Amino acid sequence: MRYHASLLLLPGTLAFQLPFKVPFFNKQVIRANAIGEHLVVDTPRIAIIGAGAGGSSAAFWISKAKERFGLDVEVDVYEREAYVGGRSTVVYPYDNSSLPPLELGASIFVEANKNLWRASDEFNLTRNAFEEGGETGVWDGEKLILSIGDGWWDTVKVLWRYGIFSPRRTQSIVDGMVKQFLKFYTKETPKWDKISDLATSMGWSNFVHNSTANYFGGQGVSEAYIYEIVEAATRVNYGQNADRIHALEGAASLATSGARGIQGGNFQLFEQFLNHSGAKVFLGTTVTDITQKSKTSHHWTVESSRGSMAYSAVILAAPLRTTGINLPSKISTIVPEQPYVHLHVTLLTTTSPTANPAYFSLPTSATVPRMMLTTHNGARQGGKEPEFNSMSYHGQIREGEWGVKIFSKERISNEWLEDMFLGKVGWVYRKEWDAYPLLPPTTSFPPIKLDRGLYYVNAFEPFISTMETETISSRNVVDLLLSEEFNASICDSRTPTPESADDPIVHTATPNDKDFVIGWDC
Ligand SMILES: Cc1cc2nc3c(=O)[nH]c(=O)nc-3n(C[C@H](O)[C@H](O)[C@H](O)COP(=O)(O)OP(=O)(O)OC[C@H]3O[C@@H](n4cnc5c(N)ncnc54)[C@H](O)[C@@H]3O)c2cc1C
Ligand SMILES: *[C@@H]1O[C@H](CO)[C@@H](O)[C@H](O)[C@H]1NC(C)=O
Ligand SMILES: *[C@@H]1O[C@H](CO)[C@@H](O)[C@H](O)[C@H]1NC(C)=O
Ligand SMILES: *[C@@H]1O[C@H](CO)[C@@H](O)[C@H](O)[C@H]1NC(C)=O
Ligand SMILES: *[C@@H]1O[C@H](CO)[C@@H](O)[C@H](O)[C@H]1NC(C)=O
Ligand SMILES: *[C@@H]1O[C@H](CO)[C@@H](O)[C@H](O)[C@H]1NC(C)=O
Repeated sequence: MRYHASLLLLPGTLAFQLPFKVPFFNKQVIRANAIGEHLVVDTPRIAIIGAGAGGSSAAFWISKAKERFGLDVEVDVYEREAYVGGRSTVVYPYDNSSLPPLELGASIFVEANKNLWRASDEFNLTRNAFEEGGETGVWDGEKLILSIGDGWWDTVKVLWRYGIFSPRRTQSIVDGMVKQFLKFYTKETPKWDKISDLATSMGWSNFVHNSTANYFGGQGVSEAYIYEIVEAATRVNYGQNADRIHALEGAASLATSGARGIQGGNFQLFEQFLNHSGAKVFLGTTVTDITQKSKTSHHWTVESSRGSMAYSAVILAAPLRTTGINLPSKISTIVPEQPYVHLHVTLLTTTSPTANPAYFSLPTSATVPRMMLTTHNGARQGGKEPEFNSMSYHGQIREGEWGVKIFSKERISNEWLEDMFLGKVGWVYRKEWDAYPLLPPTTSFPPIKLDRGLYYVNAFEPFISTMETETISSRNVVDLLLSEEFNASICDSRTPTPESADDPIVHTATPNDKDFVIGWDC
């Protein structure tokens, strides 16, 4: 038997505690083999490689299956870095933890991101509005082509420049995409072996086959709007231009209204996923090799700085090409090369309440928009490419000193910073990330199942790359794995055994409620 009933003996009160670990009384279980002999075998183990959004949520989904069905597996999470969160992590100005931290990687999610939204509720984490308000500008490298706030006059400015049709049409494309996206959280969620099948079933093939510029252009959105407004969004979110990035990610870049971040850092979501999962987490542990235990078995060996461990299944939750992991060549050859955008993030503090107006050819007395976005459209017409992708003020770190974040393709020098912030630069912190995949229009995606018992969460990234979608991809991967190896799943109930009447599942919403989230409420 693969499932045991220890869960059913839990006292009822446990049902209402979210942070609980399923107590497994024994590390070994008695199983009947095919000819009815009872054998003592080790509890099956699953390895997860990577403790970012994808890996931490994978551990959490497995724990949900353990909680619901008494599925008997143990999970080990390997993480190269000394922290949980991967591309979601914070740093403190001046390395002083009394000051408010700044996100160094992923900073925002929205209400339609129901896994993260729900997780922040369940884990009592506080969501803050991301934007502090103020003006947003669009810089083309030589001139400030637009500067808007949220007053009525600014709406008039936008309508004057672009007319009403382009903004409305864009909004309706994005709304349609978000509406469809919400299907991921319903009982009718697609389940997929191949991402191209998912694109078809979601009705998103035209999105991923077309560049953002083509698709939006084909829908009647004007070139000016695409290359000034839509492109400002694709550049700040993905460091890519509207004529290069596919339209699904282009639309996702625009679906950021009501953006939120977790107070103190988004990484806490992922720390909590792990803490609630009961998985063992090995930080500072680099996986170097994944090998098949033998030609005939479907078991895996994971080699890391801790030594070798055997597993029934392995979930790879990091972009394969950046992990340095050696895989059997029959497997590594089926995963295509995947270039990532190499992004420079520069965080700094300044006592200057505004960036240098002269840099933007504004009068000395002017205040530069606090959120400066950019477009490639000047360069497209023979002008100068902006020296950064985006530059934004992020509130006061203390009285009279502000935190600023700059994304750029190249390193930003100290001299440049001194000029931009009028000689009033305090602390500076630089980080280079392989931030997100290059996302050109495409018809093919990396495989999700690399071999029996070996799954790849980050195959999803060239489709959409966000924290939330990594938790959706991991849910799909965990379901595939559980059904293949354990005849189980996160949600679908197996025929209940008589004792399972007081099964400790916390039902907080039913499928018809708007708050229903599959995986959480199933
Ligand atoms: C600057 C920046 C801004 C972003 N902004 C947003 C945003 O606002 N909103 C949003 O939703 N997304 C944003 N993203 C994208 C988002 O960060 C990613 O899509 C998401 O965090 C990816 O999660 P993941 O778990 O799949 O991968 P990762 O977070 O990369 O996690 C993979 C983990 O695997 C570990 N690892 C790698 N190799 C090994 C090995 N050999 N052994 C052991 N461990 C290994 C890594 O150390 C890492 O911790 C941003 C990204 C960046 C860089
Ligand atoms: C850290 O910041 C706090 C708040 O501004 C300040 O009181 C404290 O002196 C700082 N610590 C160090 C070591 O600079
Ligand atoms: C969250 O807060 C509520 C109310 O304060 C409390 O009942 C609950 O146990 C907390 N949950 C967690 C996970 O800390
Ligand atoms: C691109 O999008 C348009 C709609 O804007 C659609 O008609 C066309 O078929 C799409 N192209 C591809 C290759 O999917
Ligand atoms: C999660 O658990 C680790 C180790 O037990 C602990 O250090 C960390 O503070 C916990 N994180 C949260 C957010 O509770
Ligand atoms: C899988 O589980 C279902 C019940 O959910 C059961 O009917 C079926 O026989 C099981 N299959 C195997 C191979 O154990």
